[in-house]
Amino acid sequence: MTVAQSSPVLDPYDYGFQADPYPVYAWLREHEPLHHNPELDLWALTRHEDIAVALRSDSVYSNSYGVAIEKSAWGPDAHKVMSILGMDPPRQNRLRSLVSRGFTPRRVHNLLPRIQELTDRYLGECLEMGSFDWIADFAGRLPMDVISEMMGVPEEDRAEVRRQADIVVHREDGVYDVPPAGAEASLWLVGYYMDMVAQRRKKPSDDLTSALIEAEIDGERLSDDDVIAFLFLMVVAGNETTTKLLGHAAFHLTRHPDQRELVFGGAGNTDLVAPWVEETLRFDTSSQLLARYLLQDVELHGRVAPQGSKLLLCLGSANRDESVFSRPDEYDITRDQDELAKILSFGGGRHFCLGANLARLEARVALTALVERARSIEVDHDASRRVHSVNVRGFAVEPMQVVPR
Ligand code: HEM
Repeated sequence: MTVAQSSPVLDPYDYGFQADPYPVYAWLREHEPLHHNPELDLWALTRHEDIAVALRSDSVYSNSYGVAIEKSAWGPDAHKVMSILGMDPPRQNRLRSLVSRGFTPRRVHNLLPRIQELTDRYLGECLEMGSFDWIADFAGRLPMDVISEMMGVPEEDRAEVRRQADIVVHREDGVYDVPPAGAEASLWLVGYYMDMVAQRRKKPSDDLTSALIEAEIDGERLSDDDVIAFLFLMVVAGNETTTKLLGHAAFHLTRHPDQRELVFGGAGNTDLVAPWVEETLRFDTSSQLLARYLLQDVELHGRVAPQGSKLLLCLGSANRDESVFSRPDEYDITRDQDELAKILSFGGGRHFCLGANLARLEARVALTALVERARSIEVDHDASRRVHSVNVRGFAVEPMQVVPR
């Protein structure tokens, strides 16, 4: 898809769009802020203001069909695998208040030593190699292991759980729906989590799975199916997204040698890690498109998206909206903090990402360790390869070289 065309069509399956969706978003923000792709019968909102409102209007923009673009994951049964992400209030409220017990600041903070330990181990291996793949050797390992740690998956099972979770989200080029291997891996994970829930019912422990089993509000507890669907959601929502954030952080910083120098120059400046993470979340977020099911007609900018339609909230576009962010297409880790506070990378309203604090903590720990231990980092941008995915944006391969301090 190119902007040379007078009116581009937003097609999430188009490899050109996946390679660089930003020119299409920019055109649509200016000329067609409520957009329709007639072939796929998909609607889309691209302006920050419209998306921010939609995220908070669940009586119109419903999550009840899930948030996925892929057809097989869309429909009224979405909550069976997406848990709260595929529900509207009041059910989503009740369940979210139960599961959020697992994400209290204390629980997230308690993970810090383990995140540090995993970071040190995987980064240590990378530094020893000197030249490695940032995704396969680091960014693709840490987030899933942290999720397993939270859930209470025993250490000896984690590599296999990570392998299966990778298959769940992997898409070969040209594959537009969930492939058989992905469905099989999903069943494997569901079976694994079923066994784990059964074990925790017999013998509770100090992990998230036990906390979910024991959580109670007004006498209500979660069923096994509820707990398993939520554990599965964590894998889908919290694993690849965080991997891709780490991938983008290294990729974009190294494309800007002046900014890399600010972070890695001299003895290294770890104070810049937090803004580096936030600007990366803004500039190239891993969760670009969220689907909504319209419960009512939506009339905006002179056109009507009818009730029953599927509409995409383009978070990646909101983060580049020129009416909110100055020089939106520039990557600038020294950007004004008030601007950065307006990013929509973690959504907003009732479905605001439950794992946002955890994702930020993981990214900060990992990148702080990188700054402390590496004197310089270099990414081979030409050899880096993006995933072809309609769900997440980020790199599958990112060759990196580091010189230890
Ligand atoms: C950079 C990393 C991440 C990004 C960009 C991200 C993005 C998002 C977004 C945009 C939503 C809102 C979806 C909607 O409105 O329909 C969301 C929801 C959610 N995220 Fe994240 N996420 C990240 C990491 C994580 C992690 C690490 C976890 C947990 C381990 C997690 C768990 C969840 C859950 C449970 C929800 C559903 C909340 C609800 O429906 O009430 N996420 N995430």
